[in-house]
Amino acid sequence: MKNVKVDISKAGVEITAEMEARAQAANSLLHSGKGAGNDFLGWVRLPSSITDSEIAAITETAAKLRAKADVVICIGIGGSYLGAKAVLEAMSNPFQLLHKEQQTPTVLFAGQNISEDYTAELLAATKEHSIAAIVISKSGTTTEPAIAFRLIKAEIEKRYGKQEAAERIVAVTDKARGALKTLATQEGYPTFVIPDDVGGRYSVLTPVGLLPLAVAGVDIAALVRGAQEMEQATAEGVPFAENPSAIYATVRNALYASGKKIEILGSYEPKLQYINEWWKQLYGESEGKQGKGIFPASVTLTADLHSMGQYIQEGERTLFETIISVARPASKVVIEADSENLDGLNYLAGKRISEVNRMAELGVQLAHVDGGVPNLRVEIPEISAEVIGSLLYFFEKACGISGYLLGVNPFDQPGVEAYKKNMFALLEKPGYEEATKAIKARL
Ligand code: PA5
Repeated sequence: MKNVKVDISKAGVEITAEMEARAQAANSLLHSGKGAGNDFLGWVRLPSSITDSEIAAITETAAKLRAKADVVICIGIGGSYLGAKAVLEAMSNPFQLLHKEQQTPTVLFAGQNISEDYTAELLAATKEHSIAAIVISKSGTTTEPAIAFRLIKAEIEKRYGKQEAAERIVAVTDKARGALKTLATQEGYPTFVIPDDVGGRYSVLTPVGLLPLAVAGVDIAALVRGAQEMEQATAEGVPFAENPSAIYATVRNALYASGKKIEILGSYEPKLQYINEWWKQLYGESEGKQGKGIFPASVTLTADLHSMGQYIQEGERTLFETIISVARPASKVVIEADSENLDGLNYLAGKRISEVNRMAELGVQLAHVDGGVPNLRVEIPEISAEVIGSLLYFFEKACGISGYLLGVNPFDQPGVEAYKKNMFALLEKPGYEEATKAIKARL
């Protein structure tokens, strides 16, 4: 049985033979490497190429960090942050901090912003804890993580000395290029390589995601196994009707062509909130270019029905919705009868909370469809490492197919440079003298 199924019965899209053929051709391009951005297709066969010895090496390094530190600070941004964060949130108990037997180490994140308060509070909060760091940057030159790493490296060296720092810091970066690679080599940090042909937002199944997740105690072998299953299920030659990524990519493109410019990804499990964030980067950076692309938005339900629900139901009709629907909760909580029934909830007595959640999901789906918001369901059986691995690869494959259907290169991100140029000019970075003069005149 597949870990991911796509239900398009409420999407209002009739799939024609031509649409199927286009999706199959797009999938073939990903496999033949003849499409745009073909330097960055390493993720396509990545799951099946991960060896047991690679998993063992990551697990061994993770165990060393776990043995040394109560808190491991994971430094990175964008594709060097969101995958690990998304899977970690999905696999974690949100109330872990209150448990007496706290899982150690705690994995915290830095370098995903340039907030002075965030940085100060992180450094202060970790003062009494033993710390280690994983610094992740493919380019090795990204400003946000570089600033955070400079501070955290200094803190680690101050506390433990330079020699021990090299036992507490691990770098994940390019095999040869970038300031981080130079620094890691000079300082003697253990280093994992991000393959050249895997872009940041497709890198969760490389050490970028796997190392922090192994440190946090996530079963990375199961995660990879799930991704391998989905690699097979979406491979070239799999019939369209059996390929969930091809179906999802086709339907969202058909909806886009019919004027639905915004896709809202949501789920009724708050643990999946950061999967939404990871997905937003994956699709936003892959498709938002050349003046086109679906705008990826997200909601967490039912919470956001009490904030965004009004707009989704009755606002501008440019939306469609994709719900990650989880079949089985991991826990069981039954609503009890109350002799006074002052809250009027006795009609729910004996029901599990998940039954109420399911009825909310089904009711909302019909309400939104009635309101003109087509609905797709991505069905997963449970939240487990294996299933999440499948889900990640499902979305990656669909994104590649979808980008080719849209007619863009889904593997570049030229637009992210614009803000950097302005920021460097404003910060008077050497080499930006002319730009500095020009931009200051505009302020
Ligand atoms: O998907 C991408 O390529 C980007 O979001 C990058 O992951 C992000 O900018 C971080 O880059 P780097 O890993 O080079 O520091």
